[in-house]
Amino acid sequence: MAYEYISVASEDGVGIITLNRPKILNALNLQLIDELVDQLEQMDRDPDIRVIILTGNARAFAAGADINEMVEASAIDIMKRNQFAVWDRISLISKPIIGAVSGFVLGGGCELMMNCDIVIASETAVIGQPEIKLGVMPGAGGTQRLTRVVGERKALEMLLTGEPISAKEALKYGLVNRVVPVEAYYQEALKLAKQIAQQPPLAVQVIKKSVYKAGDLALQEGMDYERNSFYLLLASEDRKEGMQAFLEKRKPRFMGH
Ligand code: CAA
Repeated sequence: MAYEYISVASEDGVGIITLNRPKILNALNLQLIDELVDQLEQMDRDPDIRVIILTGNARAFAAGADINEMVEASAIDIMKRNQFAVWDRISLISKPIIGAVSGFVLGGGCELMMNCDIVIASETAVIGQPEIKLGVMPGAGGTQRLTRVVGERKALEMLLTGEPISAKEALKYGLVNRVVPVEAYYQEALKLAKQIAQQPPLAVQVIKKSVYKAGDLALQEGMDYERNSFYLLLASEDRKEGMQAFLEKRKPRFMGH
Protein backbone atom coordinates (compact mmCIF):
# COMPACT_ATOMS: atom_id res chain seq x y z
CA MET A 1 0.00 0.00 0.00
CA ALA A 2 1.43 3.41 -0.96
CA TYR A 3 0.85 5.88 1.84
CA GLU A 4 -0.45 9.39 1.39
CA TYR A 5 -1.19 10.47 4.96
CA ILE A 6 1.50 8.80 7.07
CA SER A 7 5.26 8.57 6.77
CA VAL A 8 7.33 5.66 7.97
CA ALA A 9 10.92 5.23 9.19
CA SER A 10 12.94 2.95 11.43
CA GLU A 11 15.99 3.27 13.64
CA ASP A 12 17.73 0.73 15.91
CA GLY A 13 14.76 -1.65 16.14
CA VAL A 14 12.23 1.18 16.51
CA GLY A 15 9.55 1.66 13.84
CA ILE A 16 8.37 5.25 13.57
CA ILE A 17 5.00 6.22 12.12
CA THR A 18 4.29 9.93 11.64
CA LEU A 19 0.79 11.21 10.91
CA ASN A 20 1.20 13.52 7.95
CA ARG A 21 -1.77 15.77 7.18
CA PRO A 22 -0.35 18.90 8.77
CA LYS A 23 -2.53 21.45 6.94
CA ILE A 24 -5.62 20.19 8.71
CA LEU A 25 -3.94 19.29 11.99
CA ASN A 26 -3.68 15.58 11.15
CA ALA A 27 -7.46 15.18 11.05
CA LEU A 28 -8.08 11.44 10.90
CA ASN A 29 -9.86 10.56 7.68
CA LEU A 30 -10.74 6.97 6.82
CA GLN A 31 -7.76 6.57 4.53
CA LEU A 32 -5.29 7.77 7.17
CA ILE A 33 -6.57 5.23 9.69
CA ASP A 34 -6.43 2.45 7.07
CA GLU A 35 -2.83 3.38 6.26
CA LEU A 36 -1.90 3.59 9.92
CA VAL A 37 -3.36 0.21 10.82
CA ASP A 38 -1.82 -1.41 7.73
CA GLN A 39 1.62 -0.11 8.77
CA LEU A 40 1.18 -1.03 12.45
CA GLU A 41 0.36 -4.60 11.41
CA GLN A 42 3.37 -4.72 9.08
CA MET A 43 5.67 -3.50 11.84
CA ASP A 44 4.13 -6.02 14.22
CA ARG A 45 5.14 -8.81 11.81
CA ASP A 46 8.63 -7.41 11.09
CA PRO A 47 11.23 -9.18 13.26
CA ASP A 48 13.59 -6.20 12.95
CA ILE A 49 11.09 -3.89 14.66
CA ARG A 50 10.69 -4.30 18.41
CA VAL A 51 8.92 -1.10 19.46
CA ILE A 52 6.72 1.34 17.53
CA ILE A 53 6.53 5.12 17.92
CA LEU A 54 3.39 6.92 16.81
CA THR A 55 3.71 10.67 16.45
CA GLY A 56 2.44 13.75 14.66
CA ASN A 57 4.05 17.18 14.63
CA ALA A 58 4.64 19.90 17.25
CA ARG A 59 1.35 21.72 16.44
CA ALA A 60 -0.88 18.65 16.36
CA PHE A 61 -0.77 14.98 17.13
CA ALA A 62 -4.30 14.86 15.69
CA ALA A 63 -7.32 17.18 16.01
CA GLY A 64 -9.82 14.34 15.75
CA ALA A 65 -11.83 12.54 13.12
CA ASP A 66 -12.06 14.43 9.84
CA ILE A 67 -15.26 16.43 10.27
CA ASN A 68 -15.53 16.90 6.46
CA GLU A 69 -16.08 13.16 6.10
CA MET A 70 -18.88 13.11 8.67
CA VAL A 71 -20.78 16.26 7.93
CA GLU A 72 -22.92 14.98 5.06
CA ALA A 73 -23.06 11.30 6.05
CA SER A 74 -26.24 9.83 7.51
CA ALA A 75 -26.25 7.63 10.61
CA ILE A 76 -26.87 4.63 8.36
CA ASP A 77 -23.97 5.60 6.04
CA ILE A 78 -21.65 5.79 9.03
CA MET A 79 -22.96 2.55 10.51
CA LYS A 80 -22.45 0.77 7.17
CA ARG A 81 -18.91 2.15 6.93
CA ASN A 82 -18.20 0.31 10.17
CA GLN A 83 -15.27 2.68 10.42
CA PHE A 84 -14.31 1.80 13.96
CA ALA A 85 -13.72 -1.89 13.18
CA VAL A 86 -10.31 -0.96 11.79
CA TRP A 87 -9.52 0.91 15.04
CA ASP A 88 -10.18 -2.30 16.98
CA ARG A 89 -7.22 -3.90 15.20
CA ILE A 90 -4.86 -1.44 16.92
CA SER A 91 -5.46 -3.17 20.25
CA LEU A 92 -4.29 -6.46 18.69
CA ILE A 93 -0.80 -5.10 18.00
CA SER A 94 1.52 -7.11 20.23
CA LYS A 95 4.56 -4.80 20.23
CA PRO A 96 4.57 -1.73 22.46
CA ILE A 97 3.37 1.49 20.86
CA ILE A 98 4.84 4.68 22.31
CA GLY A 99 2.87 7.83 21.59
CA ALA A 100 4.91 11.02 21.18
CA VAL A 101 2.27 13.75 21.28
CA SER A 102 2.28 17.53 21.08
CA GLY A 103 -0.21 20.32 20.43
CA PHE A 104 -3.80 19.31 19.66
CA VAL A 105 -4.70 15.81 20.88
CA LEU A 106 -8.45 15.99 20.45
CA GLY A 107 -11.38 13.66 19.80
CA GLY A 108 -10.16 10.75 17.68
CA GLY A 109 -6.63 12.09 18.35
CA CYS A 110 -7.10 11.53 22.08
CA GLU A 111 -8.60 8.10 21.36
CA LEU A 112 -5.61 7.24 19.19
CA MET A 113 -3.26 8.41 21.96
CA MET A 114 -5.13 6.15 24.40
CA ASN A 115 -4.42 3.23 22.06
CA CYS A 116 -0.70 3.81 22.69
CA ASP A 117 0.83 1.86 25.57
CA ILE A 118 3.11 4.62 26.87
CA VAL A 119 2.76 8.32 26.10
CA ILE A 120 5.38 11.07 26.14
CA ALA A 121 3.71 14.49 25.86
CA SER A 122 5.10 17.90 25.10
CA GLU A 123 4.26 20.70 27.55
CA THR A 124 2.17 22.25 24.78
CA ALA A 125 -0.20 19.30 24.41
CA VAL A 126 -3.91 19.98 24.95
CA ILE A 127 -5.84 16.78 25.36
CA GLY A 128 -9.59 16.31 25.25
CA GLN A 129 -12.78 14.89 23.80
CA PRO A 130 -14.64 17.87 22.28
CA GLU A 131 -17.23 15.79 20.36
CA ILE A 132 -20.10 17.05 22.52
CA LYS A 133 -19.55 20.52 21.04
CA LEU A 134 -20.38 19.03 17.62
CA GLY A 135 -23.59 17.49 18.95
CA VAL A 136 -22.16 13.98 19.15
CA MET A 137 -19.95 11.85 21.39
CA PRO A 138 -16.74 9.83 20.99
CA GLY A 139 -17.02 6.64 18.94
CA ALA A 140 -13.53 5.12 19.14
CA GLY A 141 -13.27 4.47 22.86
CA GLY A 142 -13.38 7.98 24.29
CA THR A 143 -15.98 7.15 26.92
CA GLN A 144 -14.50 3.72 27.70
CA ARG A 145 -10.70 4.01 27.69
CA LEU A 146 -10.72 7.53 29.14
CA THR A 147 -12.93 6.42 32.05
CA ARG A 148 -10.71 3.42 32.76
CA VAL A 149 -7.65 5.67 32.98
CA VAL A 150 -8.83 8.88 34.66
CA GLY A 151 -11.90 7.60 36.55
CA GLU A 152 -15.59 8.41 36.15
CA ARG A 153 -15.58 11.92 37.62
CA LYS A 154 -12.74 13.35 35.54
CA ALA A 155 -13.99 11.54 32.44
CA LEU A 156 -17.46 12.99 32.90
CA GLU A 157 -16.07 16.50 33.37
CA MET A 158 -13.98 16.23 30.20
CA LEU A 159 -16.68 14.56 28.10
CA LEU A 160 -19.56 16.78 29.19
CA THR A 161 -17.73 20.11 28.86
CA GLY A 162 -15.66 19.09 25.84
CA GLU A 163 -12.86 21.25 27.29
CA PRO A 164 -9.32 19.94 26.90
CA ILE A 165 -6.86 19.53 29.75
CA SER A 166 -3.20 20.52 29.75
CA ALA A 167 -0.37 18.01 29.50
CA LYS A 168 0.44 18.72 33.15
CA GLU A 169 -3.09 17.85 34.24
CA ALA A 170 -3.08 14.76 32.00
CA LEU A 171 0.07 13.64 33.81
CA LYS A 172 -1.66 14.05 37.18
CA TYR A 173 -4.45 11.73 36.00
CA GLY A 174 -2.10 9.14 34.49
CA LEU A 175 -3.28 9.83 30.94
CA VAL A 176 0.32 10.43 29.86
CA ASN A 177 3.56 9.07 31.32
CA ARG A 178 5.91 12.06 31.05
CA VAL A 179 5.69 15.72 30.10
CA VAL A 180 8.76 17.39 28.61
CA PRO A 181 9.50 20.62 26.71
CA VAL A 182 8.24 20.65 23.14
CA GLU A 183 11.82 20.55 21.79
CA ALA A 184 12.40 17.25 23.62
CA TYR A 185 9.23 15.16 23.40
CA TYR A 186 10.14 13.21 20.28
CA GLN A 187 13.73 12.51 21.37
CA GLU A 188 12.49 11.43 24.80
CA ALA A 189 10.08 8.97 23.17
CA LEU A 190 12.84 7.67 20.88
CA LYS A 191 15.21 7.18 23.82
CA LEU A 192 12.56 5.24 25.71
CA ALA A 193 11.67 3.17 22.63
CA LYS A 194 15.33 2.25 22.09
CA GLN A 195 15.64 1.24 25.73
CA ILE A 196 12.63 -1.10 25.45
CA ALA A 197 13.91 -2.39 22.08
CA GLN A 198 16.94 -3.78 23.96
CA GLN A 199 14.71 -5.97 26.15
CA PRO A 200 13.80 -9.56 25.25
CA PRO A 201 11.02 -9.13 22.66
CA LEU A 202 8.90 -12.08 23.77
CA ALA A 203 8.88 -10.93 27.38
CA VAL A 204 7.98 -7.40 26.24
CA GLN A 205 4.98 -8.64 24.28
CA VAL A 206 3.78 -11.07 26.93
CA ILE A 207 4.05 -8.42 29.66
CA LYS A 208 2.07 -5.95 27.51
CA LYS A 209 -0.71 -8.48 27.04
CA SER A 210 -0.74 -9.46 30.73
CA VAL A 211 -1.03 -5.85 31.87
CA TYR A 212 -4.16 -5.32 29.74
CA LYS A 213 -5.64 -8.55 31.12
CA ALA A 214 -5.55 -6.82 34.53
CA GLY A 215 -8.25 -4.45 33.28
CA ASP A 216 -10.38 -7.21 31.74
CA LEU A 217 -10.22 -10.14 34.15
CA ALA A 218 -11.10 -10.81 37.76
CA LEU A 219 -7.98 -10.89 39.98
CA GLN A 220 -7.63 -14.67 40.28
CA GLU A 221 -8.13 -15.20 36.55
CA GLY A 222 -5.53 -12.48 35.91
CA MET A 223 -3.12 -14.19 38.33
CA ASP A 224 -3.60 -17.48 36.45
CA TYR A 225 -2.99 -15.72 33.15
CA GLU A 226 0.18 -14.14 34.54
CA ARG A 227 1.49 -17.46 35.88
CA ASN A 228 0.94 -19.30 32.60
CA SER A 229 2.64 -16.47 30.73
CA PHE A 230 5.55 -16.69 33.17
CA TYR A 231 5.90 -20.43 32.49
CA LEU A 232 5.74 -19.77 28.75
CA LEU A 233 8.67 -17.34 28.93
CA LEU A 234 10.70 -19.92 30.88
CA ALA A 235 10.63 -21.99 27.67
CA SER A 236 12.26 -19.23 25.61
CA GLU A 237 15.87 -19.11 24.45
CA ASP A 238 16.04 -15.53 25.64
CA ARG A 239 15.51 -16.51 29.26
CA LYS A 240 18.50 -18.90 29.00
CA GLU A 241 20.51 -16.06 27.49
CA GLY A 242 19.30 -13.56 30.13
CA MET A 243 20.12 -15.78 33.09
CA GLN A 244 23.42 -17.02 31.61
CA ALA A 245 24.54 -13.48 30.84
CA PHE A 246 23.75 -12.48 34.43
CA LEU A 247 25.92 -15.32 35.79
CA GLU A 248 28.71 -14.52 33.33
CA LYS A 249 28.47 -10.82 34.20
CA ARG A 250 27.98 -9.76 30.57
CA LYS A 251 25.32 -7.93 28.61
CA PRO A 252 22.62 -10.28 27.25
CA ARG A 253 21.90 -10.54 23.52
CA PHE A 254 18.19 -11.17 23.13
CA MET A 255 17.08 -12.66 19.82
CA GLY A 256 13.31 -12.93 20.27
CA HIS A 257 12.95 -16.67 20.56
N1 CAA B 1 -11.57 17.74 10.87
C1 CAA B 1 -11.38 18.41 9.71
N2 CAA B 1 -10.64 19.55 9.64
C2 CAA B 1 -10.08 20.01 10.77
C3 CAA B 1 -10.24 19.34 12.01
C4 CAA B 1 -11.04 18.16 12.02
N3 CAA B 1 -11.23 17.45 13.15
N4 CAA B 1 -9.58 20.05 12.95
C5 CAA B 1 -9.00 21.09 12.33
N5 CAA B 1 -9.30 21.07 11.02
C6 CAA B 1 -8.87 22.04 9.98
C7 CAA B 1 -9.61 23.36 10.05
O1 CAA B 1 -10.86 23.27 9.41
C8 CAA B 1 -8.63 24.27 9.35
O2 CAA B 1 -8.76 24.04 7.96
P1 CAA B 1 -8.69 25.30 6.93
O3 CAA B 1 -7.31 25.88 7.12
O4 CAA B 1 -8.90 24.67 5.59
O5 CAA B 1 -9.76 26.25 7.36
C9 CAA B 1 -7.27 23.73 9.76
O6 CAA B 1 -7.51 22.39 10.21
C10 CAA B 1 -6.63 24.51 10.90
O7 CAA B 1 -7.58 24.56 11.96
P2 CAA B 1 -8.05 25.96 12.64
O8 CAA B 1 -7.93 27.08 11.66
O9 CAA B 1 -9.39 25.71 13.25
O10 CAA B 1 -6.90 26.11 13.74
P3 CAA B 1 -7.05 26.76 15.19
O11 CAA B 1 -5.67 26.80 15.74
O12 CAA B 1 -7.81 28.04 15.12
O13 CAA B 1 -7.96 25.73 16.04
C11 CAA B 1 -8.61 23.54 16.86
C12 CAA B 1 -7.49 24.43 16.28
C13 CAA B 1 -9.03 24.09 18.24
C14 CAA B 1 -8.06 22.15 16.99
C15 CAA B 1 -9.84 23.58 15.90
O14 CAA B 1 -9.39 23.32 14.57
C16 CAA B 1 -10.90 22.55 16.24
O15 CAA B 1 -11.68 22.78 17.14
N6 CAA B 1 -10.93 21.42 15.49
C17 CAA B 1 -11.95 20.38 15.68
C18 CAA B 1 -11.64 19.54 16.92
C19 CAA B 1 -12.75 18.51 17.12
O16 CAA B 1 -13.91 18.85 17.29
N7 CAA B 1 -12.36 17.23 17.07
C20 CAA B 1 -13.30 16.12 17.26
C21 CAA B 1 -13.73 15.58 15.92
S1 CAA B 1 -15.04 14.38 16.07
C22 CAA B 1 -14.25 12.92 16.51
O17 CAA B 1 -13.06 12.87 16.69
C23 CAA B 1 -15.17 11.70 16.65
C24 CAA B 1 -14.51 10.45 17.18
O18 CAA B 1 -14.67 10.09 18.33
C25 CAA B 1 -13.72 9.56 16.30
